[in-house]
Amino acid sequence: MNVAFHLVNFGRFLDLDRVTLEELAIGGLVHDIGKILVRDEVLNKPGKLTDDEFIHMKEHQTLSVPVLDSIVDLPKISRDVSVMHHEKLDGNGYPNGLKGDELTLIGRMSCIVDIYDALTAERVYKPALSPSEAFKIMIGLTPFHLDADLLKKFIRCIGFYPIGSVVELSNGRVGLVCQENPDDLMTPTVKLFYSSRTTSFRDVEYIDLKKRPDLKIVRGITEAKLKTSFAEFR
Ligand SMILES: [Fe+2]
Repeated sequence: MNVAFHLVNFGRFLDLDRVTLEELAIGGLVHDIGKILVRDEVLNKPGKLTDDEFIHMKEHQTLSVPVLDSIVDLPKISRDVSVMHHEKLDGNGYPNGLKGDELTLIGRMSCIVDIYDALTAERVYKPALSPSEAFKIMIGLTPFHLDADLLKKFIRCIGFYPIGSVVELSNGRVGLVCQENPDDLMTPTVKLFYSSRTTSFRDVEYIDLKKRPDLKIVRGITEAKLKTSFAEFR
């Protein structure tokens, strides 16, 4: 569902037409359908996969093909999302080792969205990363794996510190981004209520970082990393 949501959101940002957006949504829903044929002990293993297990996990892409073939009238765009989301621009991806222009816009979008979703999701073997932490890793995957220009657009689409994300300021205060500043992604308005220095809650305070050059965001962080919950402040 997340991959479908991000694909459509990204597609809208890129001004793709409505039919394409619908086909992207379907692609997001079926993108990992081959995983239903991956052994459960590998799919849900909490630790690092062995080499053999990793090879089996990668087979979810070839296992997808007969399942996709069995879906009546599956649009090509939806299929491309599924078969291309593990390819890399330098040809070192799988299952087909597509290279450069062989990887279509839809394929490139699906590679970006799939990695973003994997990094920002909590999994049995790892905690969730914040969007900004994920972007830093993804920038390191350009240009050999991900399309650098398209990634820049995706970051602009999501926002480096999207609304609702948790950030820590240079004075140790922590809170949620509540309004983006369209002119500068680094200076949103934030709702602060926690101190990372004293690890305690404080009175709620709203700060427009555009008007406070003495303060800046030092990092995006997650509640899991702070071992607390901000649910009541959302
Ligand atoms: Fe996959």
